[in-house]
Order: sequence, then C-alpha cells, then structure tokens
Amino acid sequence: GFLKALPIAGAGAALLGGCATKEGAVTDVDRVLSISLGQAESHPSYGSLVSFGERIADATDGRYGARVYANNSLGDQQETVQLVSDGAIDMAVISGTQIENSEPRFLPMNVAGVFDDIDHQNRVMLDDSIVGDLFASLEPHKRLTVLGGYTQGSRHLYTSGGPIESPDDLAGMKIRVQESEIFLRLIRNMGGVPTPMAYSEVYTGLQAGVLDGAENNEISYVTQRHYEVAKHFTMTNHLVGFDFMLANTDLLADMDETDREAVREAWKETQSEFVEIWKRETAEATQEMLDRGVIISEPDAFAPIIEETGQSILENPEDIALYDAIRALSEKEGA
Ligand code: GCU
Repeated sequence: GFLKALPIAGAGAALLGGCATKEGAVTDVDRVLSISLGQAESHPSYGSLVSFGERIADATDGRYGARVYANNSLGDQQETVQLVSDGAIDMAVISGTQIENSEPRFLPMNVAGVFDDIDHQNRVMLDDSIVGDLFASLEPHKRLTVLGGYTQGSRHLYTSGGPIESPDDLAGMKIRVQESEIFLRLIRNMGGVPTPMAYSEVYTGLQAGVLDGAENNEISYVTQRHYEVAKHFTMTNHLVGFDFMLANTDLLADMDETDREAVREAWKETQSEFVEIWKRETAEATQEMLDRGVIISEPDAFAPIIEETGQSILENPEDIALYDAIRALSEKEGA
C-alpha cells in the first residue's frame, strides 16, 4: 500500500525537494532523506529526528534534509531493515533485537546487565574502539551502515491483571516480547509465557486479551497508551535497550565527503542530546502514569533471575569479549 506512494531515491529528490515545509520534515532542500520510525509523534525520538533533519540541512547548506515517517507508516521494523538495505528508504530506527537478527555480533548489546544505565550505554555507543567495526559490519553484504542510535532506557513489565510480585504471579501469562531469543528466554525465566509480536500490534493484543502483558520503558508505555489496557506496572529494570539508526550504505557513499561527515556529526550530536531528553521525559512519563492511576510495584524477586539470565546467554568468545569491553567502561567496575 503505502510504499507505492513513497518516492524512491532520485525520484524522491525531484518530488519532495523544494516542497513547503510539512510537519516532521525539512523539505526545502535538494534531497529529502526518508527516515522510518515505529514511534508515535509524542515519543521524544520523533522530535529528535526532526532536529536531526534540521542539523543536516544547516550543515550541508541545504543539500540534504529529512522527512520523518512516524507510527511505522513505512512498515514494521523488520520490514524497514530490508527497505533500507534495498535503498527504498534512506534511514530507519530499529530496535537492538532486530539488528541482532541481521547480525548476531550485536547480541551482547541486548543482554540484561550489559549496561548499568543510559550514560554508560552512551559512552559505549560513542566509543569507536568498541563499536567502529561492529557498526560497519553490515555494509558489505547488506548495504546497511549503523550511525549510532537512541537509548530505549530501562525496560519493565506491565500486565492487565496484577499486581505482579514474583514469578508465580506470572505463571501462564502471555507477555509480548520483541522477536528475539534473548527476550523469549528472559520472560520464560521470569515465569511468564513469552509471545513475540510487532510493536504496532501490542495495544490491540492487550485490549483483545490475546496478551496478558508486555514489557517496555515508561515512555513507550505512555506514548502507546498501553496504560489504557494494562494498568499494573512492575519496575523490573530488566534491560537497558538501544535503538539503532540505520542508513543505506550507498546513500552515504554517494555523498561528497564533507556532506557525509556532516551527517555523521549531526547524528552524534542528536544522539548525545537525546540522553538528557530521555531522562527528563522518563520522569514526565512516570508522573503521567501516576496521574492516570497506573499501579506501580517494585518487587525484589526478579533481580537475581534477570542477572543470571543475562550472563548465561553469551557462549562464544567474541561475544564474551564484546561484553567485557562494554563492562570495562562501567563506572561500577572501572578503576
Ligand atoms: C521500544 C523501542 C522500539 C521497539 C519497542 C518494542 O519502544 O524504542 O524500537 O520497537 O520498544 O518493544 O518493540
């Protein structure tokens, strides 16, 4: 459906270039980059991507700009990975779990306990000695370049029935997870029945009772209005997630070097700025949860299970080496 209407590559420049500025777009430029996002416009990544587009337009003197397509309107994340690879979309924000499915070397970045918090995560994600090769590893065969990404913050559990105090309370409960082996294992170990499903389908799944719960950060819970259909929020802190920003490799390769560097630099600024935005908006989302009568609990029972699951997932030496390199940047263990 929608893709038929989406101008592709060169045609996009002709059709969109010079248009009046629309919401979510910097289109008064020679070439408008299409960016796919799974979040609603109320999620902070939307506004941040719009600023990214503005930064690009400034830094390239109007040779490039961007248009952000929110709400998965270009496809669910799994599809958009392929569309960016094909060059039908220029860029997409996708969850760590999706990139793990394309390149298993990313797996250590998705396990419980690898990041202490979002500051530690950001230090890692800006450290070329850790991420440089990894971020380029999809270029040769998939034509995907990882520019960096956005924090997903800490993820927690929420359910329509509750409260959830221990694994026993989760027995038989269908909990939506992202399409990822790590999440399947984690929810199983925590006592629930993991149910993989695309993000865009979770609300109706909860509403229809196909799901008993899901897991996500406070901001996604609020901006997707999941509180309407799952009022019990259990602060499990099971994982600090990351969304990766993918760009089509040929798009970058075809740019002049100064423009390419400007895009990379604009992304780094956007990414770092987002860390503070995230903290502020998480506090606001938590307040909104309280205002809307969400019942929040903070049981201790899950912490040991989460810790054990995180460690047990990594088996091969390269994965363990990456995990250790990430842990070495932790302030808890450093020095
Ligand atoms: C977060 C994350 C998304 C992901 C979603 C999910 O919102 O930022 O990239 O798709 O979780 O649970 O699927």
